[in-house]
Order: sequence, then structure tokens, then C-alpha cells
Amino acid sequence: MKKELPIILAMTGASGAIYGLRMLQYLVSVKQPVELVLSRAAIRVMQEEHDLKVDETKNALENIFHFLNIDTNCKTVKLHDLLDYGATISSGSYKTRGMVILPCSAGTLGALAHGLSENLVHRAASVCLKERRPLVIVVREMPFGQIQLKNMLALSEAGAIVSCASPGFYHRPRTVMDQIDFVVGRVLDQMDLDNSLFKRWKEESPQFVYE
Ligand SMILES: Cc1cc2nc3c(=O)[nH]c(=O)nc-3n(C[C@H](O)[C@H](O)[C@H](O)COP(=O)(O)O)c2cc1C
Repeated sequence: MKKELPIILAMTGASGAIYGLRMLQYLVSVKQPVELVLSRAAIRVMQEEHDLKVDETKNALENIFHFLNIDTNCKTVKLHDLLDYGATISSGSYKTRGMVILPCSAGTLGALAHGLSENLVHRAASVCLKERRPLVIVVREMPFGQIQLKNMLALSEAGAIVSCASPGFYHRPRTVMDQIDFVVGRVLDQMDLDNSLFKRWKEESPQFVYE
């Protein structure tokens, strides 16, 4: 049987840690192997937004699993050290389905647009670009300055799929989770991963009622 290639999921220090966490939860639920990388700022944001403490000990993944109600025996997620340039995903010869950066900070966006490789997020992303594997970045900043806009254009021209965390409303979300799932689902679409996290256009949808 063909072994399922892993997806690289990186979370960086933009607001909206819940997007990346929800994606991780979904990928685990469908048994999709995940290579996870967290920037230092992502860890800080998780603490600010969810009181989720992810220290740099071996318990880090356990804390995330606990937060997401994932069985702590789960073996499909590998958490990498941010500065481990010898990690599997730092080499193009290690095959993956591609990479998602969710959320992507303006800082990481700038680093990628200029080919920097100061941590494993940058390195794994530039590997995906050179290997012509899908790289989806979901930028969260408001408003965008010219530097961010130029960096997004540069990355798009280099082959990345550039998105921002902007949920639609045509699927009639009822909860914040509905909106999060819309963004996560559309990113999964870009990675060619079937999902039914949100109601698609013209799919039967319940009437939205403000509560
Ligand atoms: C609570 C919090 C929220 C933040 N939100 C954003 C954001 O939405 N977008 C952004 O580009 N940076 C945001 N930042 C700043 C980044 O974390 C910071 O620029 C950091 O250097 C990014 O590093 P990284 O790209 O390695 O994760 C936020 C920081 C904190 C602590």
C-alpha cells in the first residue's frame, strides 16, 4: 500500500492560532500524517489567545493534544524543533504533500519573500517552493502595508498560494467555529484534501438566524 505523504503544518505568530489548531485537529481526525512546526511567536500567541501553554519540553505536543481533545497516544503528528535544520522537512529529498502556514505572520511572510532561512518554518517553505510542492500561506494582518502587499505578490509569483484569514458569509455561519472551519476547509481545498468542514456554494444550507 502507498504510504500517505505527510503535510507540513507551520503556525507562526499572527493572531488566529485557532485556525492552525483546528487544522491540526482535523488532519489528525482523518489520519493524515502531519509534520508540525511552531514559531516562538506562535507559542506566545497560543498562550495569549487560549491560555495554552506550549513550553519547549517533550510535553509540548501533549499539551496541544489535550487542548484539542486528541488522544495523547496519537502517532501521526511529529513536532519539530524550530531550529533543527537537520529535520526531515528541511530537505527536498524528503517527500511531502506540501506545506500550510496557518496563521502566517507578516514577519514570516517577509522572510519567505526574501528567501531567508532563519528557522525551520522558512527552510521548509523554501524547500516546497523549489520542489514545486504546494505552499499555502494564510496571512493575518490588518491593514496590509505596501511591504506586505509586495511580499505577497512576490510569493505568489514564486508559486505560493497566498490567502488571508477572511471567512466568507455565504455559507451562513452560525458560530465562530463555522467561520474558522470555512477558512480551514478552503485551505484544505488548496491542498487537494477532501473535506466537508463548511457548506459549499449551492449546497443545501440552513437559514441563518441571528441569535
Ligand atoms: C498576541 C499577539 C498577536 C499578534 N498578531 C499578529 C498578527 O495578527 N499579524 C502579524 O503579522 N503579527 C502579529 N503579531 C506579531 C508577531 O508575533 C511578531 O511579528 C513575530 O516576530 C512573528 O514571528 P514569527 O513570524 O517567527 O512567528 C502578534 C503578536 C502577539 C503577541
